[in-house]
Amino acid sequence: MNIVGSGATLGARVEGIDLSRPLAPENYRAIEQALGRHGVLCFPRQQLDAAALKRFAENFGSLEVNVANLYHEPGIPEVMILSNIVENGKPIGLSDAGQDWHTDMSYSRTIAFSNVLYGIRIPMRDGKPLGNTEFCNMHAAYDELPDSLKQELDGMTVTHDFNKFWEMMRREKGSTRPPLTEEQRRRKPPVSHPVFLTHPITGRKVLYANPGYSVRINELPEARSEEVLNFLFAHQLQEKFRYRHNWAEGDVLMWDNMGTIHNAVADYRPDEPRLIKRCQVMADKYFPELY
Ligand code: OGA
Ligand code: MN
Repeated sequence: MNIVGSGATLGARVEGIDLSRPLAPENYRAIEQALGRHGVLCFPRQQLDAAALKRFAENFGSLEVNVANLYHEPGIPEVMILSNIVENGKPIGLSDAGQDWHTDMSYSRTIAFSNVLYGIRIPMRDGKPLGNTEFCNMHAAYDELPDSLKQELDGMTVTHDFNKFWEMMRREKGSTRPPLTEEQRRRKPPVSHPVFLTHPITGRKVLYANPGYSVRINELPEARSEEVLNFLFAHQLQEKFRYRHNWAEGDVLMWDNMGTIHNAVADYRPDEPRLIKRCQVMADKYFPELY
């Protein structure tokens, strides 16, 4: 196994390894370390079925199972399907996942550690891939905060609300999502997490806030909370913290959901098919002391 950093703020390629087979324990440890250090890992030219994707992902923590979700692999609810493909009048997957800046599951009591995506069909136009995935580096974003703000926010917590992203999609992206029902909102109540987390792999602090779900810094008066959140969102999205993964078919892309935030670029049309299978790995293995 050979891990080569991109040289940019995030990203590495992991070559010489076949994820359809069990790996040696030292390889899992090397992947963990690389994930902490590089934030986004691409394993090119993989050939996996859904069961093998699940077997690889579950080495890093328990997998999210969304009982209400229609779009999972038959018989394997831990494998979710992201796609704009419609077959016999029915969508085969979730077509608009992650189409603005966020981190996965910050709205959940147990947060996500890593998302593992397998690219099966990638839309192309003029020889270039579409539907790429962008990231920002939250280790660097923390490091470069003004000292006064690091001190002011130290020990504070942020409320994250699933409904914020949902409503943004409805308002701004022409999504056909209906409003969440009272029952759905009850099942996903807002939760709080520290604004700065100590990353379980690097031992360094990361900024754990994101435009998709963060709604309030709990310990600050409303107006100051608003001002600081707007500052944090602009700060964390600066160009210098950004990295883009350009997809190729056969890529397994694994990202660190604590050390990065991400955005799915919606630049392809309904007649340009995209098909991705994914497993969401929860932070229970790496962060047992918090959750
Ligand atoms: C996700 C997500 C990005 C993409 O699955 O959580 O944000 O590019 N996906 O599909
Ligand atoms: Mn996401």
